[in-house]
Amino acid sequence: MAKEQRVVFIIFGGSGDLAHRKLYPALFKLYLKGYLHHHFAVIGTARRPWSHEYFRQTVMESIGEDIGDQEKISSFAQHFYYQSHDVNDAAHYLALKKLAAKLSQQYQSHGNQIFYMAIAPRFFGVVAQHLHAENLLTTTGYNRIIIEKPFGRDVQSATTLNAGIAAAFSEKQIYRVDHYLGKEVVQSLPLLRFTNPLLEAVWNHHYISNIQITLAETLGVGERAGYYETAGALRDMIQNHALQILGLLAMEKPAEFSSQAIHQQKEQLFAQLPQYSPSQIEQNFVRGQYDTDKKGDQLAYRQADNVANDSSIETFVAGKILINNSRWQGVPFYVRSGKRLRQKSTRIDIVFKNNHSKIFTPSQLQTSTVQPVILSICVEPVQGLSLTLNGTNPGRGLKPFAHKLKFQQSLEEMNNSQEAYEKLLIDIIQGDQTNFTTWNEQKLTWGFIDRIREYWDHTRPQFPNYLSSTFGPQQSAALLAQDHHKWVWGSED
Ligand code: BG6
Repeated sequence: MAKEQRVVFIIFGGSGDLAHRKLYPALFKLYLKGYLHHHFAVIGTARRPWSHEYFRQTVMESIGEDIGDQEKISSFAQHFYYQSHDVNDAAHYLALKKLAAKLSQQYQSHGNQIFYMAIAPRFFGVVAQHLHAENLLTTTGYNRIIIEKPFGRDVQSATTLNAGIAAAFSEKQIYRVDHYLGKEVVQSLPLLRFTNPLLEAVWNHHYISNIQITLAETLGVGERAGYYETAGALRDMIQNHALQILGLLAMEKPAEFSSQAIHQQKEQLFAQLPQYSPSQIEQNFVRGQYDTDKKGDQLAYRQADNVANDSSIETFVAGKILINNSRWQGVPFYVRSGKRLRQKSTRIDIVFKNNHSKIFTPSQLQTSTVQPVILSICVEPVQGLSLTLNGTNPGRGLKPFAHKLKFQQSLEEMNNSQEAYEKLLIDIIQGDQTNFTTWNEQKLTWGFIDRIREYWDHTRPQFPNYLSSTFGPQQSAALLAQDHHKWVWGSED
C-alpha cells in the first residue's frame, strides 16, 4: 500500500465534465491504492445548488463499476462535500474557507490544501485573486493550485493570467497541467535517452536525420466547437503537448533527474526555438481543415454546430522546427497534429542518417539505397518501441534487409498502467512538479506560437483542404518532401 497522504481538495467546477470523467475516477484509484485513506476530503464547488448527498451520488456514478466494488465506492464518496459557489462573490469564498477549516479538523489533514481549477479558463484569474483576498491559504500545511490548459491564448493573456495566480501563489505552489506529461511513455523519455548509451551517444546531428512528433486523432471537434473556434490546432495541441514532447526529446542532459534540473534544460531549449519571419513561417508551417470523408458520410468541420460556415480555424498543423544549437544543427523536428485523421496515433519517430553505409558500393549491396534506421516510440493507443536495424537475410548475400525489433505492451499491461490523471494527481499530492509546466516554458512556447498565429490570422487559407480519415492535407507531405524526407507514419502502408 502507498503512503497515506493528508489533504483537502477544493475542486472548482466540481459538477463539471472534467471532474466527473477524469478527476473522481482518478481520485478513487488513489483511494484504492492507499494514497488517500482516512485523512482526506473533497469539496466540490459549482453554481448549482446541490446537497452533499446529491453530489456524492454523482461522484459514485462517475466511477465505473469495473474499477471497484460498491461498498468501497460509497465509503470513498462519504469524503465528498458540496458548496454552491459563485466565483465572483467574496462571501462564498468565506463560506468555503469555513468548510475547508472544519474538514481539515475533522479529517486531520494538517491544513494541506489542493485547489483544482476544473473550470473555464476565463475564471482561473478571478478565483486565484479571491483565494488570496479572502485569505483561504492555510499557514499550517501546504497550498497548491492546479491549472488546467489552456494557459492563456497568447503570450499576453498568459502573462495576465500568470500575474493573477502569482499574486496568491508562488511558482512552487503552481501546477500547470499538460496531460500529455502524464502519459507513461512521455514520462519515460528521459529514462530512454539517458540510460541507454546506445541512444545517448547518437542523440545529435551527426547521427540523426530528423525527428517526427505525431499527435493524430480520429475524432472531430464534437461538442467543443465553441472553444475550438477560438483556438485551432496550433494553440490546442502544438503550443503545449507537441512542444513539451519536443522539449523532452531535444533538451540537454540534466545534471540530475529532478524537477528543477529538467525544467532548467527544457527552458533553455525553448529559448532556442526559432524566431521565424513571415516567409519562414510560410515555408515551414502548413495548416489544414477537415472536409467530409471520401464517401461523404462525415460532417466537414464547417458543418459542425457552432462553427462558422467560412471558418478559417485549422484542425491540422504540420511544422518544421529547427533548433539553433550545436547538438541539433540542421536537424528538422517535424511536428504534426490533426483531427479526423485515419487513425488515433501518438508517436515519435527518430530517423537516423544512413551516410555511414558509404563504404559499400551499390553493387556490393545489390541496391543503391539502404533504409534508414528508425526508432519509433509509440505513446498511444499502443505503447511500445520499435527499432529497425539493417541486417541481411540468410542466403541473400550482403543485400541489406531492414529488421524490425519491436516491443509492445500487452493489452493486460496497458490496462494495468496508470491513466494520465492518476499519475498527475499522485505527483501533486507528493509535491513533485517534474511533469507540469513552468511559467517560463509557457512564456517561451507561446512566444514561438504567437508569430505563426499572427501571420496566419492575416492570411486566408484555402479550406477545407483534407478529407476526413486521411493523413491530412497534401501540403503536409510536401513539407517533408522539400527536404527529401517523408513522414514515417502515413507513408508506411
Ligand atoms: C486536449 C485537446 O488537450 O487533448 C483536445 O484540447 C484533444 O482537442 C485532446 O482532443 C487529445 O488528448 P488525448 O489524450 O486523447 O490524445
